[in-house]
Amino acid sequence: MKVNKETFSASIIAHCRAYHAVHDEPKIFDDFLAGRLLTEEERTYFDSSLYRSVKVLKYLGSGKAVPSFIKLFLPRRFKHASKAVAPEELNEISDLTSGVACYMHATGGLALTISRSRYTEDSLVKAVGEGVKQYVLLGAGLDTFAFRHPELMEKLRVFEVDRPATQAFKRQRLAELDWKIPGQLYFVPVDFTAQKLDEELLNSPYDPKSMSFFSWLGVTYYLPRETVFNTLRTVAGIAPKGSTIIFDYLDNDVYDRVKVAPRGQWLLFSLVGAKGKCGFDPATLSNDLASLGLRLKENLSPTEIEKLYFQGYPGNYHAQEHAHFACAVVE
Ligand SMILES: C[S@@+](CC[C@H](N)C(=O)[O-])C[C@H]1O[C@@H](n2cnc3c(N)ncnc32)[C@H](O)[C@@H]1O
Repeated sequence: MKVNKETFSASIIAHCRAYHAVHDEPKIFDDFLAGRLLTEEERTYFDSSLYRSVKVLKYLGSGKAVPSFIKLFLPRRFKHASKAVAPEELNEISDLTSGVACYMHATGGLALTISRSRYTEDSLVKAVGEGVKQYVLLGAGLDTFAFRHPELMEKLRVFEVDRPATQAFKRQRLAELDWKIPGQLYFVPVDFTAQKLDEELLNSPYDPKSMSFFSWLGVTYYLPRETVFNTLRTVAGIAPKGSTIIFDYLDNDVYDRVKVAPRGQWLLFSLVGAKGKCGFDPATLSNDLASLGLRLKENLSPTEIEKLYFQGYPGNYHAQEHAHFACAVVE
């Protein structure tokens, strides 16, 4: 199967949400539609290729020298693997049969995916109760909110913003599935590194005077720092005072060879090839955001995320050691 690089990250995250919706109980985040956006062939491909990735990681983590003929065939991201990969953690997950579960537990990505979506949608529901009228998903990927929540779609205009290629893929998939596009859902193709978010949103039915809620999940890691700051500044500029943005971010320790946790290092493998890598210092995030016109309202650390969603949760779910959730308000 040929993998489309433009849509890979969005698809793999949908595959994770689908895995959780089918296999885990109780559900932290029930995306019962996610699996339908992927074909059988794609699901099998993701499972088998991710399972192979786990085996490669396990081999690299064993500390054995990698024969040069194997190196030739290693995906680029694994060439950067080092002995810091912890073999014990891989042993813990070696009895899982699903590739996606193996790999995503190994990186902490599965727990991160479902907890950030849960945190965001819980906050959104509260915000709608307080009068929010617009929901803007930045880097929406294969998010299914607009199809899972018909009751909220009656109260909201929803804007899915994503790279043109990823969005075209999603729209084609929705057409193939023959899902009815809700009247209040609008697609706004934008590449944050090349286009102006405010111009594109203002060309859509987005109303800059209407109280809004933005989410930006699983995206800041992939972008140059300048793009992340510009995008946050743009949000502060096109939404009325009191509007909210929730985003997840990696702390700077993940990029520090000494401080990075093993699962953090594995998570970084998935970012190799991305246009940029942006991290924040949780201690100075408040100042960073203030300079952009945003007030940091909540800044959840991995410890707090663990306590909120994973304490006592069965299975191998734990908050990603370097991932934080920020909730900021337009000043
Ligand atoms: C890991 S996926 C997350 C998708 C979704 N937010 C979720 O949580 O399921 C990353 C998303 O960011 C989008 N993205 C990455 N770089 C982008 C850019 N330069 N401009 C716009 N979107 C981008 C991708 O197309 C993809 O949909």
